[in-house]
Amino acid sequence: MKKLKLTMTALLLSLCAMGQTRQEINLKTWDFSRDNKSWTEVQIPHDWAIAGPFDKKWDLQKVAIVQNGEKEATEKSGRSGALPWIGEGWYKTTVEIPQGYEAAELVFDGAMAEPRVSINGQEAGYWAYGYNAFRVDATPYIKNGKLDINVHLQNVEESSRWYPGAGLYRPVTLILRQKTYIDDWSIFARTMSIDKNEATVEVEARVINPVKGTAQIFLKGPDGRSLSSGDTRIEADGKVYAKFKIKNPQLWTPETPFLYEVKVEVYKGHHEVLDSKTIKTGIRTIRITREKGFQLNGQTRKFKGVCLHHDLGPLGAAINKSALIRQIRTMKEMGCDAIRTSHNMPSTMQMEICDSMGMMVMAESFDMWIYPKCKNGYARFFKEWAAKDITNLILNHRNHPSIVMWSIGNEIPEQWSEEGRQLSIQLQGLCHSLDPTRPVTQGMDNAENALGSGFAQAMEVPGFNYRVHKYEKNIKQLPQGFLLGSETASTVSSRGVYKFPVVPTDNSLFASYSPNYDPTALSKADGQCSGYDVEYCAWSNLPDDDWRWQDDYPWVIGEFVWTGYDYLGEPTPYDEYWPSRSSYFGICDLAGLPKDRYWLYRSKWNTKEHTTHLLPHWTWGNERKGKVTPVYCYTDGVEGELFVNGKSQGRIRKNPNERLDRYRLRWNNVKYEPGEIRVVTYDAQGNQIGEDVRQTAGKAVAIQAQAETSTHQADGEDLIFVRVAAVDKQKRFVPTCQNNLSFTVSGEARFEAACNGDATSLQSFKQPEMKLFNGELVVVLRPTTKAGKATLTIKDKQGKLKLATLTFETQK
Ligand code: GAL
Repeated sequence: MKKLKLTMTALLLSLCAMGQTRQEINLKTWDFSRDNKSWTEVQIPHDWAIAGPFDKKWDLQKVAIVQNGEKEATEKSGRSGALPWIGEGWYKTTVEIPQGYEAAELVFDGAMAEPRVSINGQEAGYWAYGYNAFRVDATPYIKNGKLDINVHLQNVEESSRWYPGAGLYRPVTLILRQKTYIDDWSIFARTMSIDKNEATVEVEARVINPVKGTAQIFLKGPDGRSLSSGDTRIEADGKVYAKFKIKNPQLWTPETPFLYEVKVEVYKGHHEVLDSKTIKTGIRTIRITREKGFQLNGQTRKFKGVCLHHDLGPLGAAINKSALIRQIRTMKEMGCDAIRTSHNMPSTMQMEICDSMGMMVMAESFDMWIYPKCKNGYARFFKEWAAKDITNLILNHRNHPSIVMWSIGNEIPEQWSEEGRQLSIQLQGLCHSLDPTRPVTQGMDNAENALGSGFAQAMEVPGFNYRVHKYEKNIKQLPQGFLLGSETASTVSSRGVYKFPVVPTDNSLFASYSPNYDPTALSKADGQCSGYDVEYCAWSNLPDDDWRWQDDYPWVIGEFVWTGYDYLGEPTPYDEYWPSRSSYFGICDLAGLPKDRYWLYRSKWNTKEHTTHLLPHWTWGNERKGKVTPVYCYTDGVEGELFVNGKSQGRIRKNPNERLDRYRLRWNNVKYEPGEIRVVTYDAQGNQIGEDVRQTAGKAVAIQAQAETSTHQADGEDLIFVRVAAVDKQKRFVPTCQNNLSFTVSGEARFEAACNGDATSLQSFKQPEMKLFNGELVVVLRPTTKAGKATLTIKDKQGKLKLATLTFETQK
């Protein structure tokens, strides 16, 4: 079997090699081991820990979370996902290099963690940080035309504040080429200027081991128009350069994500191609000024951003194109135009998707510098590795038009010190030296100290995490004249959970360090947060609070909400509650399903479509009859009229003077009676703009399932996301159904994962069985590489609900 795999790879390689100067091969198939003895074949991207089982023993800690204000250590569970990511892992594969290539390089887009790469038995490369891309020169280790590649990974305990994942979770590429080649990360295409009808773009690159010859650079537009530099000199140090003037350029924005292709070609003499490399980029400019704030192509705009951790819920850290596209698509439909890759380097795949779909990015690097936030975190490496890490981040990613800002850190404990100020200046300077086109920021959580030490004043873009009430004081001390909400909200909720009475709370009753701590609260808790979007943290606030500052003060240049999606780990406010192993911060849940909060952000951010969204659900038991059950409407309209079973509850208007009435419509005294609630919404001119209804559902009788996309690739990598819901006889959604379902897949697809968004669930994502959480869940299928039919059958394990069968056609 092994031999066959090797020969097949070799055959494939030699076929592709014919007549080519360089080849880039995605190394997908590896053997994997947890003990370096017994091996199983896996496809990468791969996350060895995501299948679980969930258990509090994996990451049980007795710690004080200092950045949350804790002084004394208490027992924490689920802080990094309650999954078995700690420990060692090995991966190995063999590649035969076809004849005609003189050099080989391996590019890892990230490996979790501390990857040590050996080739043919010799150590060939190492990188400390699990999130960064790094390259290994394989040429000196080639033996008999073969590469035996072995990667050792090690995840140590208490090295992360969230679930980091484990394994070769991002692609590994083998590049085969000649001795003379273009250094991929030396290519830098930048827009120097744009005016009405013309843009100037400069491109530079570097040839390694240059020979006597020439180079040529081509620039091809989205309309197919192509420009060429013509024959260009290769300087003695290998540098090549060209300047292009583009008439009527098609500018990149989130709304118009036009991409240009840059091709660099190197010739021996004038004709014989030695190497050729094509990248994508966009034409656009960025400026940040006191007068105009953040400008893209000369247009001021405020960031409507979200922070994203790197995990993909039930898929873990293993990246996947369909899953990343789904994430970005859902955020864009909400009106979001930016993401912050908190708190580390993004994957190349994610950046390519942001380029092509139109999403601005703040690309971050570190969650800590010298002083640790967790015992074995990046602080172990900072001094030796920080400059190398920033260098790789920027060289790897600086051609992505989506990236509009670099971030050198998140809530760095050094904020208050002169040492910290110096480090900020050094890291920011390093960013500028590698990329003079983008501003640099970092997120600060301790405004007084960061301003007192000059740390905040040193930053090109001062980013503040939370504490909006301090913004006004902060701005007075900032020579920059603007500030960014680098992290906002940290509002917490569980999809479909509503708690009564509805009272805004910072949840400090669950926090043992707080004066409001109620020792009995955790034992009475259910591990869920209310979907009325009125719960936040002691250090944070509600979406409404952030908007007030952004709307009333031009110097607030926007926000990055914590977070777009729930992620594995950090189950605040239930850090001390078990079971709970994933976050509540998301606008969408861990399955990617929108919570009510999605519609609140949509009502503010999506200026193209109207939003009218009612909550809560209206399927309550007898015990709620006659009880006060507030009704909220999230809408871009300014007025709305609510009807309960046809009876008006009043037409009300948003009120800019009340915290929760400026951006929401609320009927606080509605009493529950079964039937229907209906809202009609109006714009400022009194025109009706929308309507929404919630009806009391009957008993759940059937399962309904629908794929989110209509075409499916038979490439072994595409994923089909299927939304599953319980419905009653009239096909009304039943938001209270928690039945346990099972999934069977036949034909040309396999079961990949299931997730219901319940942070307290201990059912494995990788078993074909999952309970509905408040009526819903998501099943993920992976088509095989053969085109054909696939069938998903969903059954209720209790046999009460009529089963659902879905059939898909997959295409090559
Ligand atoms: C911030 C921190 C984030 C996350 C968040 C939760 O202070 O930067 O990583 O921990 O709090 O509210």
